[in-house]
Amino acid sequence: MITLALSKGRIFDETLPLLRAAGIEVLDDPDKTRKLILATNQPEVRVVLVRATDVPTYVQYGGADLGITGKDTLLEHTAEWGGNAGLVQPLDLQIAKCRISVAVREGFDYAAAMRQGSRMTVATKYVGIAREFFASKGVHVDLIKLYGSMELAPLTGLADAIVDLVSTGNTLKANHLVEVEHIMDISSRLVVNQAALKLKTAPIRQIIDAFAAAVATQH
Ligand code: PRP
Repeated sequence: MITLALSKGRIFDETLPLLRAAGIEVLDDPDKTRKLILATNQPEVRVVLVRATDVPTYVQYGGADLGITGKDTLLEHTAEWGGNAGLVQPLDLQIAKCRISVAVREGFDYAAAMRQGSRMTVATKYVGIAREFFASKGVHVDLIKLYGSMELAPLTGLADAIVDLVSTGNTLKANHLVEVEHIMDISSRLVVNQAALKLKTAPIRQIIDAFAAAVATQH
């Protein structure tokens, strides 16, 4: 059995065409079922639905053979667990593309705050990425870990700035925030459990190669 870990939402939706290209059809709609293990048209391939931040954990510890996860999630996983031992990252799938940015309230003088080294408070789900980014700039910040709705933090006085994913920029605009730094581009990656790759080389290779071919034709 080959187990693929996916999270619901954008990554799941954008993975379906890649799975189809590999000849795999998921038989259930994750929005219509409460099941967490989804069968596919291939009896030896199944999909498990996990929280986005849990995908690297499932694959690293062998709860799934493969997984698809954002570069943001992978970097945070590495920062938190001090490494990705056992996790092979063979492919950038170039799906769920977005960026990680710093944003502040309209009118907040970010450049001055950075120049003066005044200790900014930064709220984010991406503590590892934010810590590394501000350290690389030689600026001390106080980080506040949040799990969602980061945009609220500067509006309520919880923080001066946020580090968050930006796609269209609509969420920032709707909340009167402006993007002041582009930290990095993000896309989703295929990750594979190293031991599974050794033990089930042929079927896993087949999926990796089909995904690689699908990515190459789509870009
Ligand atoms: C992300 C991010 C922003 C939004 C940006 O949230 O945290 O809130 O998308 O997208 P936009 O630039 O197109 O407006 P997501 O919907 O992934 O949910 P989350 O709050 O769980 O992170």
